[in-house]
Amino acid sequence: MDANTRPWWRYAVVYQIYPRSFADSGRAVAEPGVGDLDGLTARLDHLAWLGVDAIWLSPVFRSPMADFGYDVSDYCDIDPVFGDLAAMDRLIAAAHARGIRVLLDWVPNHTSNLHPWFQESRQDRTNPKADWYVWRDEPATNWNASFLDHRPAWTYDEQRGQYYLHCFLPEQPDLNWDHPDVEAAMHETLRFWLDRGVDGFRMDVVHLIGKDYADDPADAVGKGWSHVTFNDVPITHERLRRIRALLDGYPGDRTSVGEVYLLDEQRMATYHGTTDAPELHLSFNFRFLWSPWEPGGLAALARGTTEILDRHGAGPTWALSNHDVPRHRGRYGGDELDARMAAVMLLLLPGTAFLYQGEELGLVDADVPPARQVDPGGRDGCRAPIPWDDEPLHGWHADPWLPFPPESDVRNVAAMRADAASILHWYRRLIALRRAQPAFHSDAVTFLDGSPGLFAWTYPDTAGGEWSVYVNPTDQPQDAGGRLEGATVVLATDPSLERHALGTGLPARVALVAHRA
Ligand code: NOJ
Repeated sequence: MDANTRPWWRYAVVYQIYPRSFADSGRAVAEPGVGDLDGLTARLDHLAWLGVDAIWLSPVFRSPMADFGYDVSDYCDIDPVFGDLAAMDRLIAAAHARGIRVLLDWVPNHTSNLHPWFQESRQDRTNPKADWYVWRDEPATNWNASFLDHRPAWTYDEQRGQYYLHCFLPEQPDLNWDHPDVEAAMHETLRFWLDRGVDGFRMDVVHLIGKDYADDPADAVGKGWSHVTFNDVPITHERLRRIRALLDGYPGDRTSVGEVYLLDEQRMATYHGTTDAPELHLSFNFRFLWSPWEPGGLAALARGTTEILDRHGAGPTWALSNHDVPRHRGRYGGDELDARMAAVMLLLLPGTAFLYQGEELGLVDADVPPARQVDPGGRDGCRAPIPWDDEPLHGWHADPWLPFPPESDVRNVAAMRADAASILHWYRRLIALRRAQPAFHSDAVTFLDGSPGLFAWTYPDTAGGEWSVYVNPTDQPQDAGGRLEGATVVLATDPSLERHALGTGLPARVALVAHRA
């Protein structure tokens, strides 16, 4: 596909916001120290300055917060902790005014146990919503739930006198998508937000909306594996095609990015459908996210995923951190230089890049003492609040719900914006280069074969030249195979290399972008 005719989401930089931890507005609220929509809106200029194309908000719908918003009790309202519908309208308008699109986080597999649908469903076996959830007299499968040491995915409900299915917490009962009214009701929730002007959705564990109720492999179950990575059944694809048709029925290139947590690119790719019968627009690449910081392995994964998706007419996405996993700077060993090199990879690979709030500050996870731990999935560390300045509350109006990440006195937005050599400016320069050069929006990537210590790829530029990207996190110089000769370094993690031509070799511990006219 030609770069100029490709929809925005194929090459966007999407910035993930975990709203509880992004920014608070200081309005009188029930929970001081929790971020909210007006707080976020007030910080949009910062995101515009950074240069992102879109934001994805983790869920802000009404929720009892057993899973901090991933347990929804009303899909068509904003939780009072975050504000109200008017605040969301203000956010959407303010983002659009800055050219930033807005994606919400749609949670189709399960609701909260306090959702009125579940409250009705559990009453008895004959009520109008009796079959909106998955009820059985006995646990029907050997599936494990996620979290809480992966206990069985079936919980007995005294009121109804039956077991219900929950692939996550017992407070998150799975909807029964086999029931046409459930599908229709969930479509209505999409329309509600599309009508309000959102640009699309991140779709939470969307591969779970079809189930075959076959047992998982006994050995994996015995080792405590959750059902989520095994669920891969044909009926889901029909449902995704109908969701896609719904989205495509709206003007303005609305989009979807699915959390298809299958850890297998071949299977994940099928969730994009075909050109004639499309499904998801995009999906996350979790094996890449979880990969060790090892250039040969990352290169093989990136190339493999890109090729597999290309055969499905789809494009890749790249993310290294999110609200569920330890931040990648920590996973990669903790040195900020590694985070800077990783940013080159994340932002200049072909496709859609997803940044997680705070990675542009080089944050690592907060150390959350046991008394302050709140997440049943043990994910508090990566959800620490964003430090905006070096004041004691770091720009917050009250002590936040989680402790700040390490080094917040210097690793904060204000300090880093004032320092042109900071990792924040490095992210901004990479995003600016990506935006300015159409080559980086093209599919014409060539992954270079080479030593396992080097991850390198090139794009032809529109004037017959070439852009090349090299990532060498190893302690050894690497042979760039002649490709660098005659090229000028445009950006480098080692600034002394910029504006110079290199020979054939790439120094140790460097990532750079070079251009040959
Ligand atoms: C995946 C989300 O990213 C995670 O935060 C959540 O706990 C589960 N899905 C359940 O909704």
